[in-house]
Amino acid sequence: MAHRVDIKETGEQFWVEPQESILQAARRQGVRIHSDCEFGGCGTCRIQVTRGQVCYEDDCLPMSIADEEHEQGHAAACQARLTGDIEISLASHMDVLPQAQQLTARVHSVERACQGIWRLVLQLPADVAVDFRPGQYLNILFEDGRARSFSMANADARSGRLELHVREVEGGRFTQARLPGLQAGEELRLELPLGLFYWRKRDWRPMVMVATGTGIAPIKAILESLLDNDDCPPVSLYWGMNRPEDLYLAQEIESWADRLCEFRFVPVLSHADERWDGARGYVQQQVCRDVPDLSEHAIYLCGSPVMIEQARALFKEHGADERFMYADAFNFQADAPAVEASAA
Ligand SMILES: Cc1cc2nc3c(=O)[nH]c(=O)nc-3n(C[C@H](O)[C@H](O)[C@H](O)COP(=O)(O)OP(=O)(O)OC[C@H]3O[C@@H](n4cnc5c(N)ncnc54)[C@H](O)[C@@H]3O)c2cc1C
Ligand code: FES
Repeated sequence: MAHRVDIKETGEQFWVEPQESILQAARRQGVRIHSDCEFGGCGTCRIQVTRGQVCYEDDCLPMSIADEEHEQGHAAACQARLTGDIEISLASHMDVLPQAQQLTARVHSVERACQGIWRLVLQLPADVAVDFRPGQYLNILFEDGRARSFSMANADARSGRLELHVREVEGGRFTQARLPGLQAGEELRLELPLGLFYWRKRDWRPMVMVATGTGIAPIKAILESLLDNDDCPPVSLYWGMNRPEDLYLAQEIESWADRLCEFRFVPVLSHADERWDGARGYVQQQVCRDVPDLSEHAIYLCGSPVMIEQARALFKEHGADERFMYADAFNFQADAPAVEASAA
């Protein structure tokens, strides 16, 4: 028997069959719920259940939903199923984002940013208009339909180029087997823009931005879009890396000091020797040492899924409000199929 979902904001309804997830049912009936990983890992499809409750296969909560969040009515639409009628809030899915499109770009340059990280610059076709929100990502599409996701490190595409920061993954089909040998002029098929990681102007709260590794790329895009912008809230940026020589963007980030509001940049290193006199350890713990009360902040997390999971839990202990926490988890994608343009 199908169950009914009422959407709080619009009064619309849709129906979920027993064998399908809320996300599948919504998509089938033309209701937009943003999604990325579709295996419960990233939190992009998170909805708020305001009446009734959802369940999951084998009673097993998806990675992106903690026990306490489940009790508070947060649900991952890509995994959640129904045994009764419910009402949901889709407030976080109502932003109108640029439509995803597929296009062919050419490699402009590939260079090492630091050990294990590459800067890949792509040249967009001159006759295609490309629009995205700073912080969103793209998919590089393979001939077999598989895709690999990388965040765009630019604030916009006015230069006709897109910059990606790519961490080399041992055995990686793209980052190790293909990327180092790419030549200028080679074609890559792309799908963009995707994802929900972008600055929410409406929040207007001091921002705490936390990145690990190449998670700095979309944060760079967001912060570049806020340079010399009167709407910029106070910004604290924490960047977790291993050693000082990995901080490949540090100089550029430091150069933003006078162009962002009350900007504070804290690199946090996990494997620095005794010459390093800056912050050490886990980046999320450093945030809580510096800002023990996070109740008034908007929080942007990007990079390792483990960091994001731990940061979410820890920050909530420090008062952070889930409604103002945004995350882009760099999940692995060896088996993830290409994202359909309609899903964005
Ligand atoms: C929304 C989104 C945005 C992303 N943006 C970026 C970005 O800007 N920069 C970036 O460097 N990465 C980013 N990633 C992560 C990147 O897409 C994956 O690491 C991707 O799988 C690498 O592709 P590959 O073909 O080289 O490796 P694959 O062939 O996918 O993987 C090879 C093997 O390595 C494992 N593996 C894959 N990725 C990792 C990893 N990160 N850590 C440890 N083991 C891994 C796989 O499980 C597999 O066994 C993003 C991911 C998502 C979901
Ligand atoms: S958790 Fe549902 S799309 Fe990622």
